[in-house]
Amino acid sequence: MSIMTKTVVISGGTSGMGQATAMARAARGDRVVVIGSRADAPYRADLSSIAETRRVAAEIAREHPRIDALLLFANRLYPKRTETPDGLESTFALYYLSRYLLGTLLAPQLDAAGNPVIVNVSGTGATAGGVVWDDPQLTRRYGMVRAQLQAGRANDLLGVAHTGRARYVLYHPGFTRSGQSPNPVIGAVTRTLARVAARPVEDSVRPIVDWVDHPPAAKLTAIDRGRPVPPTLRTLDPADAARLRAYTERLV
Ligand SMILES: NC(=O)c1ccc[n+]([C@@H]2O[C@H](COP(=O)([O-])OP(=O)(O)OC[C@H]3O[C@@H](n4cnc5c(N)ncnc54)[C@H](OP(=O)(O)O)[C@@H]3O)[C@@H](O)[C@H]2O)c1
Repeated sequence: MSIMTKTVVISGGTSGMGQATAMARAARGDRVVVIGSRADAPYRADLSSIAETRRVAAEIAREHPRIDALLLFANRLYPKRTETPDGLESTFALYYLSRYLLGTLLAPQLDAAGNPVIVNVSGTGATAGGVVWDDPQLTRRYGMVRAQLQAGRANDLLGVAHTGRARYVLYHPGFTRSGQSPNPVIGAVTRTLARVAARPVEDSVRPIVDWVDHPPAAKLTAIDRGRPVPPTLRTLDPADAARLRAYTERLV
């Protein structure tokens, strides 16, 4: 391998868009580090657990002193409210908190790269939902969509609060022919809809694959289905980002 070989870490790289990105980057000769919870994942970890996320991050940091790109895809739908061993609502823990932790724990390795980038694949640009400040763990009123929207807005704020050397990209791929379903009925409906309305996975991941080679110049870039999201959008509010950062630091 040449000394210019890039190292790319992908959370949720075992299926869907993460897997397609992993394959595209591996085909370019990168060292690709894939994290997933299933048995065949090269780096197996349940990213909804703080301890597991810390363990896998430490393992990756030990083996890869320089990381060029951290690409964050891991997510799962939880139809019913479930709690992690840390007592956190699972969507919040997996879809938001694991991304905060990986970005923070791998910051030294990212900082060691020439032009590092973090891509957080979520739902930027959407304004529905938000952080439920008086009950972020959704103990009183849980809904699967509400939990997804809250974690999506939290990821927007994670990008705004980012301070490391790596360029940060928030990316909303749009409805894509990927995604695991929590039950067969939702799965069948989604697959039928996806056949007519969703984008092929390769189209959705193309910008991500390119950002690894050419990180944007701006500290934060938000792209919603190909269009830049204005930094003044209310979901990218710096005061909310600081508030969420403070809450998150208390949690971990
Ligand atoms: N598909 C869409 O239409 C769409 C639209 C907008 C935004 N997005 C966002 O894009 C991202 C990727 O979506 P996708 O459709 O490619 O999803 P996907 O096919 O369902 O893949 C999700 C990935 O997350 C991993 N994962 C789930 N639970 C995990 C856990 N506890 N620990 C570690 N890894 C775990 C899965 O790996 P294991 O099975 O190995 O655990 C899998 O690799 C998500 O954040 C999603 O919200 C998707």
